[in-house]
Amino acid sequence: MRVWLQTAPLLTTVERIGDREPEPLRTAGIRPITAVRMLRMLQPRAWVKISPMPVAARIEGLRNDISTLASVALTAQDFMNAMVKLLQERMLKYNWVGFYMLEAQAQPPILVLEAFSGAMTPHTRIPLNQGICGAAASSGQTVVVDDVSKDPRYLACSLETKSEIVVSIFVRGKVVGELDIDSHFPAAFGREDQELVQHCAMLVGEKLENTGR
Ligand code: SME
Repeated sequence: MRVWLQTAPLLTTVERIGDREPEPLRTAGIRPITAVRMLRMLQPRAWVKISPMPVAARIEGLRNDISTLASVALTAQDFMNAMVKLLQERMLKYNWVGFYMLEAQAQPPILVLEAFSGAMTPHTRIPLNQGICGAAASSGQTVVVDDVSKDPRYLACSLETKSEIVVSIFVRGKVVGELDIDSHFPAAFGREDQELVQHCAMLVGEKLENTGR
């Protein structure tokens, strides 16, 4: 038997090894130690193994929760506020998560920090010709930097940041902002992370299109 446990901040699987009791346990939301105790009540001498939930399963659960958020949030602003918290809480390597929105009318156009979760950053306004954020917004491309210390475009927000991903948000084909995530871990953003962050940015674009800010 294998059960998934949702605990903050870790998602964990507790596995009963060599069990004879296929009865599933309802364990979502409880702490691993509680699940172990429940397993031992069923089978006092059971050996149990606790291991982190694989990234793919963690991402799938998160995608479902984000889709739910998208449908219940009344405004794009509410959606973005909730999303930054959810992404930072549930993805262990997402240490700073924030949205920069483009003030296209400004001269010159500028990215302005809006919803974010993580330490305060000195970079609350970023021109399009500066930083990894500027590069992503001006090209519309996803930018992934595995080692920020090697990228001359990088604007430092924290000494702890090692890698970064920035994904543009589009409304009717035009860049209107971006989702920026920093990690304290080098090369934290693999293919699955890129797909997740792009999906999140796409949902925000849709929400903006449907509800405005
Ligand atoms: N590092 C970004 C600036 C924003 S902070 O990461 C929050 C950049 O180089 O554009």
